[in-house]
Amino acid sequence: MKKIILGMAAMLGLTLASSLVFAGGDAAAGQAKTAMCAGCHGADGNSPAPNFPKLAGQGEKYLTKQLQDIKSGARPVLEMTGMLNAFSDQDLQDIAAYFASKNIQMAGAKEENLALGEKVYRGGNLETGVPACTGCHSPAGNGNAPAGYPALGGQFAQYTAKQLRAFRTGAHDPKNQAARTNDGDAAIMRGVAAHMSDIEIDAVSNFIAGLK
Ligand code: HEC
Ligand code: HEC
Repeated sequence: MKKIILGMAAMLGLTLASSLVFAGGDAAAGQAKTAMCAGCHGADGNSPAPNFPKLAGQGEKYLTKQLQDIKSGARPVLEMTGMLNAFSDQDLQDIAAYFASKNIQMAGAKEENLALGEKVYRGGNLETGVPACTGCHSPAGNGNAPAGYPALGGQFAQYTAKQLRAFRTGAHDPKNQAARTNDGDAAIMRGVAAHMSDIEIDAVSNFIAGLK
């Protein structure tokens, strides 16, 4: 009996230790909280329309941060105003875990601009100081989930281009309503997008839509 209790205590200790290392969200609990998201983002995070980002397969850490930022207003999303108010941090993490567990259906790229898009993605633009995207978002566009760098591959080009323009606006005119400024104190993405041209933004967004 004593041995069994000791053994159980050891097991409990182990699960406690591992949950301290990564207190991830609960995807099953998250699914139950996503009914009102489905109309715009799809039941499994594959949105039906290109102005609504696909969430399927996105990193849990990145999704949790965006949900916290949207809730607090640090990233204003008009269409979601007030929608997250009733959710706790744990709810948001559960929702993030649910969408992270789904598979993305690729938006797919058009032929046009593909070569320029790939050049920008893999090499940036040395002359204007645009860094390559591969270092943080990975060569296959998977991002870096533990670091919170979002996956990009397969996302709708329209959404990606809007975000790059929003970061660019944020670099030059952070108070502008169209600016996105929630990329941290280091302003990583504002720095990346600050000197991108419209042609480069549209080309790299098209390339990303077909990247896997
Ligand atoms: C009425 C439509 C609508 C509904 C409903 C909605 N969203 Fe959104 N959501 C949007 C739009 C539009 C954006 C992108 C805004 C932009 O362009 O920056 C967005 C962005 C997001 C993002 C950021 C994605 C990224 O890649 O950075 C997350 C995460 C998100 N929504 C989660 C949710 C969740 C969870 C729910 C349900 C609780 C929900 N949304 C409900 C319209 C909606
Ligand atoms: C030094 C690292 C770094 C580099 C280089 C970088 N990014 Fe990012 N990117 C990030 C981080 C971090 C975020 C998340 C910012 C946040 O928390 O809102 C991000 C976010 C994004 C988003 C928003 C995704 C979404 O779902 O809303 C897009 C689009 C994007 N990056 C595109 C690019 C492109 C295109 C390039 C190359 C031209 C690039 N990034 C280069 C780190 C980087």
